[in-house]
Amino acid sequence: MTSARVIDLVSRMTPDEKLGQLQIIFRPRPDDAAALVRRGLGAVFWPRSSAATNALQRVAVEETRLGIPLLVGLDVVHGQRTIAPVPLAQAATFDPPLVEALAALAAAEARSGGATMTFSPMVDVSRDPRWGRVVEGFGEDVHLTATMGRAMVRGYQGDDLSAPGAIAATVKHFVAYGQPEGGRDYNAVDASPHRLRNVHLESFRAAVDAGAAAVMASFNTVAGVPMHANHTLLTGVLKEEWGFAGVVVGDADGVRNLLPHRVAADLADAVRLAYDAGLDIEMGGAPWDLDPADLAVIDPARLDDAVARVLSLKEALGVFDTPYVDEHAEITTPDAASRALARRAAARATVLLRNDGTLPLKAPRHLLLTGPYAESTDHLGAWTQSFGAPAGSIADALRERLPQTEVRVAGGTGFFDGSDDDISAARAAAQECDVVVVCVGEPSTLTGEAASRSDLRLPGRQEDLIRAVAGTGIPIVVVLENGRPLVVADWIDDVSAVLEAWQAAAAIVDVLLGAVNPAGRLPMSFPRSVGQVPIDYAHETTGRPATVRGSLAAESQDIGLHGPDNVQEKFTSKYLDLDLGPQFAFGHGTGYATFAHAAPQLSRPTITLGELEAGGTLTVSVEVANTAERAGDEVVQVYVEDLVASIAPPVRRLVAFDRRTLDPDETHRFSFALGREQLGFWLTDAATARFVVEPGVFRLHVGSTLESTQAVELVVE
Ligand code: BGC
Repeated sequence: MTSARVIDLVSRMTPDEKLGQLQIIFRPRPDDAAALVRRGLGAVFWPRSSAATNALQRVAVEETRLGIPLLVGLDVVHGQRTIAPVPLAQAATFDPPLVEALAALAAAEARSGGATMTFSPMVDVSRDPRWGRVVEGFGEDVHLTATMGRAMVRGYQGDDLSAPGAIAATVKHFVAYGQPEGGRDYNAVDASPHRLRNVHLESFRAAVDAGAAAVMASFNTVAGVPMHANHTLLTGVLKEEWGFAGVVVGDADGVRNLLPHRVAADLADAVRLAYDAGLDIEMGGAPWDLDPADLAVIDPARLDDAVARVLSLKEALGVFDTPYVDEHAEITTPDAASRALARRAAARATVLLRNDGTLPLKAPRHLLLTGPYAESTDHLGAWTQSFGAPAGSIADALRERLPQTEVRVAGGTGFFDGSDDDISAARAAAQECDVVVVCVGEPSTLTGEAASRSDLRLPGRQEDLIRAVAGTGIPIVVVLENGRPLVVADWIDDVSAVLEAWQAAAAIVDVLLGAVNPAGRLPMSFPRSVGQVPIDYAHETTGRPATVRGSLAAESQDIGLHGPDNVQEKFTSKYLDLDLGPQFAFGHGTGYATFAHAAPQLSRPTITLGELEAGGTLTVSVEVANTAERAGDEVVQVYVEDLVASIAPPVRRLVAFDRRTLDPDETHRFSFALGREQLGFWLTDAATARFVVEPGVFRLHVGSTLESTQAVELVVE
């Protein structure tokens, strides 16, 4: 419902004032910014202090005819002052309340400086680690992405956008941006209605349901139609079908980009297409660059609708009544509690990929630290504003925590370079130590926007370094700091333990020393080779699944424990030169404790379609015992396998998960409610999309990773 204030304002605005409200200008210089606001600019991308932001708001409120305050937008992606792990690492925590708490902290810090809107969360499901932006999202899985996206929206917005600690969330990038051809950023997407509905749209639907204030259009085309000109998806699905009453924001220069996309002949055409499609705020200033004679390109009713949406958001944010923030209350430095939260998140995000018992380290006398991250203090990851403070180095932390150990550093290589001599020196140093910790990965410049890679191995000579020290026979621990799944096939079998720490280093030393027991799980599969990409566990089964002697066809595909030597048939879906499946599947991760799972149980073996339609649920549960001598977290995952459906279903699909700490000898029954949402899928044809549950047998796979699930069958009648 549009308020009386907004209706009144819209009725009094000139066309030029209306256009001003529909643009956000990116990082203007302070002098330019004031002039733009005097001219009527409604929104600004403005990474500045509370004093500078208040000063700019004052221009809007006091020096413009209608005194409409500004929207102040920023990419607060994983923290403002307190830098949390990158979103992909947050997904690896499998801990939505933690993600919500991190977003609430980011919102409080950002709003205290005057920002009112963040361009986050990114909920683009992606199965292509070549795409550098996977670091900004929650990985390959629809349910995990939807769950984390919802949690972030709740964290940013709370219950009341006008509260001092709340900012408007912008869910991005709508839609299918995570599936660019060849993994190359901005590239074309050709997604069927089936793929759109069952994969790409779901996480946006969840975030919109959670009340997200804004949605950002993506740079890609979908089936030839650039998203900034895509009426079917922006208006048809988002605004009309889902009833989204918030604001559709364009991505940076996305409207101008309609020219090189070759769907617009000139800027006026581009602006017309975008507003006809359903855009509300353009990012970059294209409307103001139009010839005044062309301003009428935007349909008057559409123009008023867009302006009303923007003003309604400002009203919800409370900025009409309270445009300024208290400069004394600006949070400029993280306090102890914020730092502890970020550190807890980093600890929960680490994924122990493999361990032969070398970890946790047992007070070695001589420890060698090598690799480009050994002494680096750049552990913040892609997408931080200039506000975050650098972290300490792993070398310093280890020296402090292991006073009895001689901690030597022989850098070995940089990220991209390294001489044979440097590598030999690291190898020689390794021979004099009891254990080697190799800190390798990607620098943050290799991840994020416009950072696609065609090779997923460690860059430069880092693999040479690992192989050189591994050849000594000394136990080797590899710590990975990276923002995407990597191909690790050429060295993984030569080392004792591998810890995936993402771009979130705060907790590495705690995990190495055993103060933290790692229990993160992979939010994206690690391929064996870049040639397998795109790759995900939830793929459809083919008509000719590669089978492994003596096992069930569909089960072997997604797990990847078996080599082509075992594969039974020639004319099956596989690569001749690769083992089946990924190196590490989605959901993989181990730890220092061990758990015993009883057989999963259903509260009832059957349920009717009628009961499901009426909101009925059943429970699947499993009893889990900690059989270790130390406390640890278990992450129980529930996957659905639909045995026969009217479309080829995914081999398995995550529908629920829970992470919980169990003390030694403690037993806990993990329980999950399953209903229509978990058992159904979208049926699409050219004109319609319907969410359906079909009768039949469903196998529920429950366990701590895909490799270790146990199944129970449910019949839907
Ligand atoms: C990115 C968006 C981001 C915007 C503003 C664009 O290039 O695609 O994700 O929010 O810039 O920084």
